[in-house]
Amino acid sequence: MTARQQPKNLWISRWGFILAATGSAVGLGNIWKFPYITGEYGGGAFVLVYLACILAVGVPVMMAEIAFGRRGRGSPIEAIANLAREAGASPLWKVFGWIAMLAGFMILSFYVVVAGWSFSYLWKMASGALSGHSVAELGAIFEAGNANPWALGGWATLVTVVTMLIVGRGVQEGVEKSVRWMMPGMVIMLLIMIGYALTSGNFSAGFHFLFDFDVTRLSSEGVLAALGHAFFTLSLASGAILTYGSYLPSGTSIARTTFTVAIADTLVALMAGLAIFPIIFANGMDPSSGPGLIFMSLPVAFNQMPFGQLFGVLFFAMLSIAALTSAISMIEATVAWLSENRNMSRTKASWLAGSVLWLVAMFAMLSFNLGADWTLAGKHFFDWLDYLTSRWMMPIGGIAMALLAGFVFKSSMLRDELNLSDAGYRLWLFMIRYVSPVCILAIFVDVLGVAEL
Ligand code: PFF
Ligand code: NA
Repeated sequence: MTARQQPKNLWISRWGFILAATGSAVGLGNIWKFPYITGEYGGGAFVLVYLACILAVGVPVMMAEIAFGRRGRGSPIEAIANLAREAGASPLWKVFGWIAMLAGFMILSFYVVVAGWSFSYLWKMASGALSGHSVAELGAIFEAGNANPWALGGWATLVTVVTMLIVGRGVQEGVEKSVRWMMPGMVIMLLIMIGYALTSGNFSAGFHFLFDFDVTRLSSEGVLAALGHAFFTLSLASGAILTYGSYLPSGTSIARTTFTVAIADTLVALMAGLAIFPIIFANGMDPSSGPGLIFMSLPVAFNQMPFGQLFGVLFFAMLSIAALTSAISMIEATVAWLSENRNMSRTKASWLAGSVLWLVAMFAMLSFNLGADWTLAGKHFFDWLDYLTSRWMMPIGGIAMALLAGFVFKSSMLRDELNLSDAGYRLWLFMIRYVSPVCILAIFVDVLGVAEL
């Protein structure tokens, strides 16, 4: 018996992995969330801390996860169990595979609701339903859409079905083939949007807002938000990257692919900021209007601009595609686990996972309407899903991945897998052993309210 298993699935090309992993990373986190938290926490200084978090925590942990996937060849649960066996450690470590898989599933169950907003705005933009309204009226439109469970649920259902149809077709035929045209399409739309912001928006105000450095505007809360967002934006500790890594052919450089994905994700976030803020500023709107930035302020701004409807359609098409390529990665771990370990066909696994996911998503969707009063400790189910995953499960999973990679698994195993130069390996080991865990621990200190940073 060899410890290394033969993979059942592999990407057709190295680009298959890079496109799929970039598709996973680039999503609502980049285009919807990053701009509004940057607005909230004060622009340039926040962006700088965020970049530091990507480098110090995101990159080392992503390298570890891809190495786990490729060495362990399986879903997060199976891969971690295999690695523990190879290292002579307890098989119980696989509990962190469970946490990661569950985190991906839980994130997806509220992500499809937000993605549903994007799909519905694509439709509303195209049909002209958003034309000629003030911010207040657009706020009312947004709220009316949420208040109607049939509308909100219908859009979330559409996203769920499309996601499961892609995933159900398999790693090569479904995931790889779809990202091959969705990712280039998304990038082209983003470039067009930036060109539009450059020519029709207040580009310099947007640029200064994103890149001017003013430490006084940075709070400890902002630092922790940057750290938490680094995990979310790179799809870490949620099974997605690890499972995609399990389909990576042995010869590919993990360090190089990780940097490619992290740089692409960062560029898209910054470019999304450069597409959105100039339009916001050119129309005299407030950059820090929270989640409503994209669904209230931006449509109003489009209304006031030349060819606004056309570019509005383009923007929401881009957002919807970005959301979809992330959604498929979040359920991949579960589908891989069901089909590899529970002996189900890929199609059956997708339908089963998709049905359960849909039920949870519908429950999350009700937080905005029928279940407006169903709160626990002041939080709706939708908020609980977000809170539990981003504040607890991803950090716990992230620390576990770092400690497993740094201390539990034999260093020869991962050294082999990462195939770095001596200096590169030592740097990675130092980051994954000390820097990443300490930074992640800071999230807990914040969650538990033990100390103020
Ligand atoms: N990285 C995605 C984004 O920035 O929108 C979100 C995400 C995808 C989180 C996949 C977790 C995951 F497994
Ligand atoms: Na992202």
